[in-house]
Amino acid sequence: MEISEVESTSVAIANQERILESAMSLLIDNRRTRAGCTFTVPSPYEYRHQWLWDSCFHSIVLRHFDTEAAENELRSLLSTQRHSGMVPHESNTEAFGIRLPFKSRITQPPFIARAALDVYEKSGNKEFLQEIFPKLHAYHIWLEKQRVESGVINVLDSNESGEDNSILWDYEYRVPVHKTYLRWLSSYLPFYPQKSAIKSVNSTSVYADALECMSAISKRLKMTDLERMYSAKKGSVISAMRKAFRNYDGIYYNLTHKGKMILNKTHSIFSPMFCGAIEKKQARKIVDEHFFNKDEFWTKFPIPTVAKKDAKFSPTDYWRGPTRININWMTNKGLLKYGFKDAAADLLGRTAALVMKSGFREYYNPLTGDGLGAKQFGWSTLVADMIMA
Ligand code: GLC
Repeated sequence: MEISEVESTSVAIANQERILESAMSLLIDNRRTRAGCTFTVPSPYEYRHQWLWDSCFHSIVLRHFDTEAAENELRSLLSTQRHSGMVPHESNTEAFGIRLPFKSRITQPPFIARAALDVYEKSGNKEFLQEIFPKLHAYHIWLEKQRVESGVINVLDSNESGEDNSILWDYEYRVPVHKTYLRWLSSYLPFYPQKSAIKSVNSTSVYADALECMSAISKRLKMTDLERMYSAKKGSVISAMRKAFRNYDGIYYNLTHKGKMILNKTHSIFSPMFCGAIEKKQARKIVDEHFFNKDEFWTKFPIPTVAKKDAKFSPTDYWRGPTRININWMTNKGLLKYGFKDAAADLLGRTAALVMKSGFREYYNPLTGDGLGAKQFGWSTLVADMIMA
């Protein structure tokens, strides 16, 4: 398909239907039941366990087809919660079809409350909200105690950011991220020394949005004190983000563990829009100057996870440039939140074109649209949620 066919605003109805149908069948094919829990593996080939933010994304898409499956996905995820309240980034592990007792010691961007609220909005099932609320609340207490520092999220491991080999970690690790699988051990070994941390714009934006969702869920459950408490917490996180991340150019940048601003532009320059953290004027400037900039994020198959003109940009290296559909989904939501309907529709059009061209892959070359990484990849079905929004 030629980009021009989808360039303007809408995705042709026939294409929408094809995408929705294949998203549904992928999510059915990737569903597994292990030790009484039913969840969706990110890919039947490379990723055969349960992951935190993947499951949240799966449930957000599943809610359009099967709200019970969407609820079970979150039930399974929350069944992996540790006594401390922490929810591991990877669990329900197996080898050669045998379930293993391991779950990781790090978490991932806290998307669970967003997923729970979105699922509820389709199902109207208050009992489900009631059932999972204590676990969600415990997770948020844990997050605040263990990960919030000066009001923003301190990510303790690159795998915890969900962006395993992102360029943001180049300033932290001596052994280049992802050059060795030894790095993966740090997510499992209890006494593995934590060598680094970053204050993350993306994870904090997800967290601020989650606080708003916790407030909305509390409201649905008529817990007025908690509704107010979570809403006030969101307000303080938004102020803290401005203080910690805002540079003189108005953009929010990530910080190294020493508090130094990492001035590379990654997709996270759009993340504050997801939780409504910046003023509209600033958001418009970011959209005009960076989103629609052909040398930065408006490539033929946007949006790259690193600005094209950054010296570290690589179109094929995992989180160091390739397009990821969960990031497009977040960016699309942010654009809609600020009323940039045309930009959101353009992004949806190009995302749909990408999936029509290369299928549901883990990541894509933002210049050519070639599919890369795992095949039959779950969160890439988020394009279906973008279509149905
Ligand atoms: C990779 C990704 C991570 C994801 C996991 C499962 O490790 O970087 O974000 O959760 O795969 O898909």
